Amino acid sequence: MSIWKRKPLAQLLAEAADSEKGLKRTLTAWTLIALGIGAIIGAGLFVRTAMAASQNAGPSVTIAFVVAAIGCALAGLCYAELSSSIPISGSAYTYTYATMGEFLAWIIGWDLILEYAVGAATVGIAWSEYLNNLLVNVLHMSPIPYSLSHSPFQTDAVTGEHGMINIPALFIVSVISLLLIKGIQESAFVNGIIVIVKVAIVIMIIIIGWHFVNPANHTPYIPASSIFTDEHGIDHKFGGFWGIIGAAGTVFFAFIGFDAVSTAAQETINPKRNMPIGILGSLAICTVLYILFAHVLTGVATIEDFRTGGKEASVAFAINKYMIGYAWLGQLVTVAILAGFSSVILVMLLGQSRVFYAMGKDGLLPKVFSDLHPKYKTPYKANIAILVIVGLFAAFIPGDIVGDMTSIGTLFAFSLVCVSVIILRKKEPNMVREFKTPFVPLVPILGVITCVLMMAGLGWTNWLRLFAWMAIGVIIYFAYGKKNSVLNNPKE
Ligand code: ALA
Repeated sequence: MSIWKRKPLAQLLAEAADSEKGLKRTLTAWTLIALGIGAIIGAGLFVRTAMAASQNAGPSVTIAFVVAAIGCALAGLCYAELSSSIPISGSAYTYTYATMGEFLAWIIGWDLILEYAVGAATVGIAWSEYLNNLLVNVLHMSPIPYSLSHSPFQTDAVTGEHGMINIPALFIVSVISLLLIKGIQESAFVNGIIVIVKVAIVIMIIIIGWHFVNPANHTPYIPASSIFTDEHGIDHKFGGFWGIIGAAGTVFFAFIGFDAVSTAAQETINPKRNMPIGILGSLAICTVLYILFAHVLTGVATIEDFRTGGKEASVAFAINKYMIGYAWLGQLVTVAILAGFSSVILVMLLGQSRVFYAMGKDGLLPKVFSDLHPKYKTPYKANIAILVIVGLFAAFIPGDIVGDMTSIGTLFAFSLVCVSVIILRKKEPNMVREFKTPFVPLVPILGVITCVLMMAGLGWTNWLRLFAWMAIGVIIYFAYGKKNSVLNNPKE
């Protein structure tokens, strides 16, 4: 029994070929790009852009988007090679199993919970912010009480009221989990419509908001270095180089999701061609939109706004306060954002359930996680388990904390994916690679450097959280996974 045992590539590919008996192949390149954009544009843009501007970088958050995009493009090229040559459910988890052995595969699988499940909770919490905005500014009703729409670790700066449980966040993740249990085909259709609305809204804000940019808000574009202490008493480096890097770690969240496309490889028609198109295409479109959007948002409202009244539902706040005559846009944005966030949650929960499905098949998690629903052919038991995990995070932890945990966990996963490409080129030089990452090992190495730099920008509290999460994972592996792994116990 070895914790370094690698899953033979031939076995992985045989499992992929066998997939006709399992998940259905229904997704095309366009559905994948839609799936990617559906996962990409969400809370990262509509909530964390303002957060990064106020805590880290001011207007230079646009430069942070460029840094994050470079990291994602480098890692994306690595993802594309792996997903086009190992077209099987499970994403980075599966790739690591083939390259670096079982223990590291488990580590990455456990880490992906931070990306997908905790990420879905983050977006659920952002959904809750905009739901209150909908109730107050669109429907002119009372908001859901602070205590029932915030975590116990949050206090209202004005009234002093404490949070207790975030019920709207819990509600939305539950509804979407049920939708996923019913099946991916219907879900992809709904997702397609939402993607169109979401992109249209971002473009409208850029075009209309451009006329309301106040050049004073962009001066200086890169603020001088200082320290900003947030509501939890955590210090952030503000301004200068580290301000931009810290902001890059924060808004990196906005790009998470393009890799979720790779988790649907087993449900994709001709994955060798369509996977790279889906991953890189969705990334490219979003990068351009983000830079323009961040430029407009930080030009319309001030950093002080984003630290006070505009801390929650920041985009709607900026429109309502500064873009006089465009109240309708504020209302439209709120509705679109609620729909847009739902599609992000959907793709993240989908990615998570596919990773659990793969881990259940491999015996690293209980086998029930790989049971498919007799009629819908979805891993419904995995979906239910995930709902419990996501629900706990969504209901009880503040959005900025779960968001940073998502960012650091995903950056860690991306680094391992880059390393996997180098290792697999050495260990399996003759494997068929429909898409090849250019300039190996330069591109993967630069990918690792950029990702680790962004992790550094997220600060030591997030490193502590990552280590704590990983320590729990190691304990579970030695207590359960190692003993039950199919690869390590061939007779079972
Ligand atoms: N990229 C996704 C978002 O920003 C996770 O919500």
